[in-house]
Amino acid sequence: MPYDKKIAIVYKTKYGSTMKYAGWLAIKLNADLYEISDVGRWDLLKYKTIIFGSPIYNSKIYLRDYLEEKYNIIKNKNIVLFCVSMNLQSREDVVEYNFEDEEIKKKIKFFFLQGCINLNDLSRIDKVKLKKSINKNQSFEMINLEKYMSIDRSNKQTITPIINYVLDKTY
Ligand SMILES: Cc1cc2nc3c(=O)[nH]c(=O)nc-3n(C[C@H](O)[C@H](O)[C@H](O)COP(=O)(O)O)c2cc1C
Repeated sequence: MPYDKKIAIVYKTKYGSTMKYAGWLAIKLNADLYEISDVGRWDLLKYKTIIFGSPIYNSKIYLRDYLEEKYNIIKNKNIVLFCVSMNLQSREDVVEYNFEDEEIKKKIKFFFLQGCINLNDLSRIDKVKLKKSINKNQSFEMINLEKYMSIDRSNKQTITPIINYVLDKTY
């Protein structure tokens, strides 16, 4: 009998950091890995636990609309969402800013990870948006970014709490 995997990882990325974390998690958890555009309703229904991975852009969870749209299909699963951003986010800020529905807020288990930015990779429009956002809230080290062209805060160790949580919930 074929062995059905119980965990899926579904990610969306623009510049790769979220994909990197998704890959690390998939290996550690022996999970199936999907880029968001490759996953369909029937795929989602197969799993006991679905881990979503999304970057944060201008405070918005890139996968937010997708999660709200698909919530009814997946609400009986263990749902985990890891958010990747430059600055370590607090749950309160991100969750309150992005979701209104109390049930969704309660149902999703959130984790926050740090990613990377490479100025050379960014589209022109993202460069402009990033500069605006930095000037507005002074929260990124633009000086460092301009000096070194890239900042990489991704760290493999930081996925350990996600692994522990998911293993505990799934098996
Ligand atoms: C236009 C733009 C806006 C961003 N907005 C935020 C933000 O609001 N908060 C934050 O901490 N990081 C922000 N970042 C950093 C990204 O979240 C970070 O680079 C992340 O690793 C990108 O993930 P990805 O490589 O999977 O697309 C922003 C980056 C860009 C280019």
